Amino acid sequence: MQTFAYLLSLLPLAARAVTIAEINGDAFISPYKSQSVTDVTGLVLAKGPYGIWIRSTDPDDSHLTSEAIYVYSSSVGSSLSVGDIISLDGYVSEYRSSDAYLYLTEIGSPSNVQVVSSDNAVEALVIGEDTASPPNVEYSYLDGGDVFAVPNNESLISVANPTLDPSTYGLDFWESLCGELVTIKDARAISRPNSYGDTWVFGGGWKTTSGNDHGGLTMSGSDGNPEGILIGSPLDDSNNPDDTKMGDLLEDITGVITYAYGFYRILPLTGLSISSAKTADYGATSLTSSRSCSGITVADYNVENLMPDSDHLPLVADHIVNYMLTPDLVNVQEIQDNSGSTDDGAVSANETLGALVDAIASISDVTYEFASVDTENDTDGGQPGGNIRVAFLYNPDVLQLAGGLRQGGATDANEVLAGPTLKYNPGRIDPQNAAWDDSRKPIVAEWEPVGDSASKFFTVNVHWASKGGSSSLHGDARPPVNGGVEQRIEMANVTGTFVSEILAVDPNAAIIASGDFNEFAFVEPMTMLEEMTGMRDVDAVLRTPVTERYTYLYDMNTQALDHMLVSPSLQKRRKVRGYEHLHLNSWASDADVVSDHDPSIAVVNVCASFTLHCRRGAVKTEDGMTLARFALLSGNIVWITVLRVAGGAKEWEDEKGVLKKKTRKE
Ligand SMILES: *[C@@H]1O[C@H](CO)[C@@H](O)[C@H](O)[C@H]1NC(C)=O
Ligand SMILES: *[C@@H]1O[C@H](CO)[C@@H](O)[C@H](O)[C@H]1NC(C)=O
Ligand SMILES: *[C@@H]1O[C@H](CO)[C@@H](O)[C@H](O)[C@H]1NC(C)=O
Ligand SMILES: *[C@@H]1O[C@H](CO)[C@@H](O)[C@H](O)[C@H]1NC(C)=O
Repeated sequence: MQTFAYLLSLLPLAARAVTIAEINGDAFISPYKSQSVTDVTGLVLAKGPYGIWIRSTDPDDSHLTSEAIYVYSSSVGSSLSVGDIISLDGYVSEYRSSDAYLYLTEIGSPSNVQVVSSDNAVEALVIGEDTASPPNVEYSYLDGGDVFAVPNNESLISVANPTLDPSTYGLDFWESLCGELVTIKDARAISRPNSYGDTWVFGGGWKTTSGNDHGGLTMSGSDGNPEGILIGSPLDDSNNPDDTKMGDLLEDITGVITYAYGFYRILPLTGLSISSAKTADYGATSLTSSRSCSGITVADYNVENLMPDSDHLPLVADHIVNYMLTPDLVNVQEIQDNSGSTDDGAVSANETLGALVDAIASISDVTYEFASVDTENDTDGGQPGGNIRVAFLYNPDVLQLAGGLRQGGATDANEVLAGPTLKYNPGRIDPQNAAWDDSRKPIVAEWEPVGDSASKFFTVNVHWASKGGSSSLHGDARPPVNGGVEQRIEMANVTGTFVSEILAVDPNAAIIASGDFNEFAFVEPMTMLEEMTGMRDVDAVLRTPVTERYTYLYDMNTQALDHMLVSPSLQKRRKVRGYEHLHLNSWASDADVVSDHDPSIAVVNVCASFTLHCRRGAVKTEDGMTLARFALLSGNIVWITVLRVAGGAKEWEDEKGVLKKKTRKE
């Protein structure tokens, strides 16, 4: 002991023996941050290329303080084995590779590493059995009850450093176990792997919310599904499979909890293994067109940077024909110009759209026509040089542009004229408005079923600014940064203003706004658009189960970025007769993904409401006796009441004075 005390006195900083729980503390940031510690004792749980994970042999009673920690050093593990109990000295640091991330508490510069004993049992904590089940709604106290709230980035975990509440908040739960060796039993994949092979999962016995029909978790309202956890790179240098998809069942996963690249994650001891892959039975839509005003099929599909020779162009055509069943009208987004992403000043997309039309025609009996507005060069964001835009494909056997083509140009602002009708068909909505800077301008068109000019309807096709610049749901900013939300709020304002102008002329106008809004239904840009215009999301009108409202898979969540909103006159089940999101891409393994978004399809009754013109008349004798009364609807007798049989009457005049003769039938 004298020797130890002597050594201790030689240390430059006031270092003292502490437990791992003391180092971790009961919040996110270690109370020992930037301090030296000595005589930290722990059981080696796992070894990685740059360090080891150790668990305290002297645990405390608190479930807030993790009993395990990462020791960062590429050499420390070389002379150690899993199952060794060691003691070491080191320096506590909080590490992150980006300001957007949380800090990982770790012991660096380990020294004086002593093996106390070897071959000790190493048992993983089974999550949900040896620990609580992860919280399943909220991420952080600092989110104020809504992880998707606007405004966001109101506080930072690294600054506020809240005391952990692992039974309520997901981030606190994973932080309270950070460094631990854990097992997830009956794991289920809720994503496909990202480019590093990292895959989101949850455990079979966990209390989850928001499970969808395909085995994933759908975000809704303030429920962001913090029970999902990312499985990172295996510690044994093996790889996670690259063909996992949402809903696949996995073998039990054992690994250590850490935080890196913006997420809590489990680094598995070895690669994931699929125990039972779900058979993705995609099935075609059940919605079909009546090819008349009573049932027009209207679809929406972000086809992801499509150019004439895109490899995925025939696959998009296959989706439109065999799964969407060639809808009468398809709103597409991300149509690139004829030269794709080559930045050569090309702005026309007629060959891109023509190639898609041809591919569809080659496998179906529908030859679509298209309507769109060419962009200016490099002013609409997206892939540089690609000049992506929105466009309509329509089946000319069923639909036509009402009043014919009145092509608007890139800088022409569409106008609502008396009728209501549009100045440009199709035309852009206020394209010079700063809301659209470096982003896609929406287009609006008016349509009529072929031969039925009374049943006119309007469609608005949008592709609002992306969520680029968002911080992760596991990031430092709370609520997390929703990239581009201010611009989308302006876009909602401009889009809503135009829709309101149509409705000001005719409150019963049939208007369908659809596309990639890049926003969730319950977040301000969308709620603002609804409040401004009285439009409603068809998912809400038809009460689609909340868990099935999704068109996109991102991190742990399935989510709806694509929507279809309808004006008040269409907000009835006899008007919007069906709506389906076809999960062709969100429920696919990597090799089968055609676009990053799912298509959606609705069937809409756009028939003009009409009034029956009824004319009544009577059958009378010459002396004025009424023999029968009748009603005429569009010239046909629909109703007659015979009051008495007139023996004498042989002929009579109807109300227009036309002489009628009595026949045997009468
Ligand atoms: C979030 O807020 C912090 C602190 O106010 C600031 O430094 C950071 O730039 C903000 N992040 C974003 C993406 O706005
Ligand atoms: C299109 O815009 C890009 C970027 O501003 C520019 O480099 C290119 O020269 C432009 N092409 C033409 C033909 O104007
Ligand atoms: C595209 O437009 C150009 C110029 O109007 C025309 O020459 C060409 O034939 C069109 N291509 C298709 C596929 O429609
Ligand atoms: C919409 O934009 C107009 C014009 O810039 C502005 O006056 C109005 O306040 C905005 N409305 C909302 C709800 O932001």
